[in-house]
Amino acid sequence: MLKLFTCCLSPHCQEQQQQAHSVSITTTERSFFEDIIGSKGGLFRIFRLAELKDATDNFRSRNILGRGAFGEVFKGVLTDGTQVAVKKLSVQSHQGKRQFRTEVTLLSTLRHVNLVRLLGCCAEQSERLLVYEYHLNGSLDQTLFKTGSKNLGWPLRREIIIGAAKGLQYLHEDSRHHIIHRDIKASNILLDEKFHARISDFGLARLLDMSQTHLSTGVAGTFGYLAPEYASSGNLTDKADVYSFGIVMLEVVSGRKNYNPNVRPEDQLLLKVAWRLYTQGKLLDLVDRRMGDQYVPWEAARILHVALLCTQAAQSLRPSMSKVVYLLHGRSEISEVPTKPPSVFVESFEMQPHKPQSRKRPSVTLTSSSNASMVSSIFSET
Ligand SMILES: Nc1ncnc2c1ncn2[C@@H]1O[C@H](COP(=O)(O)OP(=O)(O)O)[C@@H](O)[C@H]1O
Ligand SMILES: [Mg+2]
Repeated sequence: MLKLFTCCLSPHCQEQQQQAHSVSITTTERSFFEDIIGSKGGLFRIFRLAELKDATDNFRSRNILGRGAFGEVFKGVLTDGTQVAVKKLSVQSHQGKRQFRTEVTLLSTLRHVNLVRLLGCCAEQSERLLVYEYHLNGSLDQTLFKTGSKNLGWPLRREIIIGAAKGLQYLHEDSRHHIIHRDIKASNILLDEKFHARISDFGLARLLDMSQTHLSTGVAGTFGYLAPEYASSGNLTDKADVYSFGIVMLEVVSGRKNYNPNVRPEDQLLLKVAWRLYTQGKLLDLVDRRMGDQYVPWEAARILHVALLCTQAAQSLRPSMSKVVYLLHGRSEISEVPTKPPSVFVESFEMQPHKPQSRKRPSVTLTSSSNASMVSSIFSET
């Protein structure tokens, strides 16, 4: 691999390529690739554009796996039979080029069972392409919302949540770097043939020095998943990812999208519904009805509890990802009580007196019987 790329960088080879393929790669890009290849050796490959055209049947539309803000992702098969996913970035925009560099820089250095694997990239002519391992079950949103979440039984949902949490923990705390993903959402979590979860789409990610705890940045991400402090002031810490992950947990357990404009206004925001049910002591009403009683109530209650801890207004109240993983494993009681919902809901929130859980549904105590009254006092204070 290294050889192939070294050849591509030699003046002679470049001349040949320019004649044959009119390769245009800038000096900055060349030194960028030299650095990446130099440090990664054979783990990362530079693909030729012709090879990726062959693999994807010339980027045929029927091979499209998904679309995002800056390009399309195609299914491809390499000559050795390996199935791949090829992201073709729109490089008209400055953001597309930036996304390419960010993904190559970060993903070529990261290895974790819960992160997507970048096999290589291609920068030829004006094309910028990223080549990933193919994931048979696509992204979590496709499985959860499009094909009907009844296909996704409780054990898989629980494992997807735990797997994605571990991937995020690695980014924040365990890799050699401190990485904030900035776009955690269901469409950026991929599922392989066994439904193992892998975090993907690192185009917006930010790398911090180990000593840095926060960054001031322009706001990017997806409506409905953005932490309030980040959306309002660009104040970015890893707790912004924790917040987004809390929303994902609610989506997985409920089988509902975080925002649904087709229902009554008070039910449109999933997070608002979750906090309302929590104050009413009926949190388990959120569980996806399509699972019937085929789920484990105490596990669902625990995940929902952790999701509410993650989506609290104050970032200091949200747990770290290592704490989230620990809590999700369920080895001990959760002593923390969700107290402060994002203030955006406060005005429209109708407080109900706390009613005990209906006897028909399994009764689960969320460690503190006073949780509802604590939340109500905060609602009425604000
Ligand atoms: N490796 C993959 N295997 C299968 N499907 C994928 C793969 N990578 C991306 N996709 C599909 O393409 C969609 C867009 O990919 P993503 O990397 O999130 O790009 P964008 O930056 O455009 O959002 C994903 O939501 C998913 O449905
Ligand atoms: Mg995406």
